[in-house]
Amino acid sequence: MIVSFVQTKGGTGKSTLAVNTCFSETMKKKFGSIALVELDPQGTLKNWWQEREDEERETGNISFHHISSTQKQVFQEGIKAIAMHNELIIMDIPGESTGKLHTRFACAFSDLTIIPMRTSTNDESAFADNLHPIIKEIIRVAPNKSGSFFVLPAFVHPQAKQSKIIEYFNDILPQNTACMDMVFPTRSVYENFNREGLTLAEYGLSVKNNKRHKKQVDKAVSDIEQIAESILTILEK
Ligand SMILES: Nc1ncnc2c1ncn2[C@@H]1O[C@H](COP(=O)(O)OP(=O)(O)OP(=O)(O)O)[C@@H](O)[C@H]1O
Ligand SMILES: [Mg+2]
Repeated sequence: MIVSFVQTKGGTGKSTLAVNTCFSETMKKKFGSIALVELDPQGTLKNWWQEREDEERETGNISFHHISSTQKQVFQEGIKAIAMHNELIIMDIPGESTGKLHTRFACAFSDLTIIPMRTSTNDESAFADNLHPIIKEIIRVAPNKSGSFFVLPAFVHPQAKQSKIIEYFNDILPQNTACMDMVFPTRSVYENFNREGLTLAEYGLSVKNNKRHKKQVDKAVSDIEQIAESILTILEK
């Protein structure tokens, strides 16, 4: 199974979601081996993983792979090789790349493509102008890919009514893209948890004596587990 986080617009939470769903209890329990793959030459996750290694943190059934090539054949071969040894691959795709090469590849190659998107005209027009034409073309060539493109409303105010946001996206999205039944709320903990290569759960342990912080982490863990479960439900369909 291959799940990718894709959005041609930068800073919508792709890398944050990739790491956290990968390390979720839901995924760790469901899959015997998981590969977190970063196709982003920027190397956000590569640096984070290096810090984990420096701190000798446990990675369990999760491995990390960074493919920085800009040649489609190189990352296609790389993913094929990783897929032979892993039950689940989670791919972090760069926002910008020449000819949207990585985005095209991920959309065509994944069992599920998740598009984190804000309720902003900026994000909506980036989707309509850049991503939707790619999705349409892939479905035209490979009709079996229809049903594999989902928007995940991101940076949602924690107090916002989730069902309203999901309804909003289902109204505006074109036929071949659905909205997930979960949202990714804005929480400051997502900006802070990953210092020194920590995962959300490890960060939770490090602040366990600080009630206010711990409560925030618990909420974030709950968001992520629900997003991971929602991913599994889609994959199992
Ligand atoms: N739900 C969230 N709440 C608050 N901050 C968040 C959330 N998700 C991500 N962030 C922060 O927003 C910034 C962008 O997130 P991230 O790097 O995951 O986006 P991205 O889509 O991978 O960006 P790029 O396109 O540059 O690769 C980071 O500083 C991250 O810590
Ligand atoms: Mg990123």
